[in-house]
Amino acid sequence: MYYRSMAIYFMSGIGNSFRAATWMMEIANKRDISSKLHQISRYYKKSDFAGESNDLLGMVFPTHGFTAPWRVIRYALRLPNGRGKHAFVVATRAGTRIASIPFPGLEGTAGYLIALILILKGYIVRGVMGIDMPSNWMSLHWGLNLQTPSLSLIELR
Ligand SMILES: Cc1cc2nc3c(=O)[nH]c(=O)nc-3n(C[C@H](O)[C@H](O)[C@H](O)COP(=O)(O)O)c2cc1C
Repeated sequence: MYYRSMAIYFMSGIGNSFRAATWMMEIANKRDISSKLHQISRYYKKSDFAGESNDLLGMVFPTHGFTAPWRVIRYALRLPNGRGKHAFVVATRAGTRIASIPFPGLEGTAGYLIALILILKGYIVRGVMGIDMPSNWMSLHWGLNLQTPSLSLIELR
């Protein structure tokens, strides 16, 4: 399928999901797909979507407590009807290394919950995935830094 335009709606705490969204934009630009990023805001207005007519919609956000953050769920619920528009969902999650063994994050229901909402709204979901990024789950562990021997930042390409 050839897409001409794409809109990505993202939420990001420390920038991981924003970074992932910009990677997708870079790939889209190389393929001549014009793309726009929109931050998922607390105060959503129906007029935010007025005049938006993209071929492809993306939702990119962090996993919180093995599911999608409430702000993202609420935003997805308020999206206009998809009418068959294609969509994809990406949840970033906490990838770590413990004793140099890489461990993937656990996105749980994060991606599929948003995908389900999009399907119910009439979107055709073409893909759902989790991406390992550095963890910011500070209530679970100490802060990550490159000096920490047992738990270090995952290598980003
Ligand atoms: C409150 C909170 C809960 C989290 N829960 C999970 C989780 O259940 N599974 C997981 O893999 N990562 C979890 N994380 C880690 C983030 O999803 C991960 O670091 C993400 O890439 C952060 O992206 P952001 O910078 O765009 O917010 C959590 C982080 C926070 C702050």
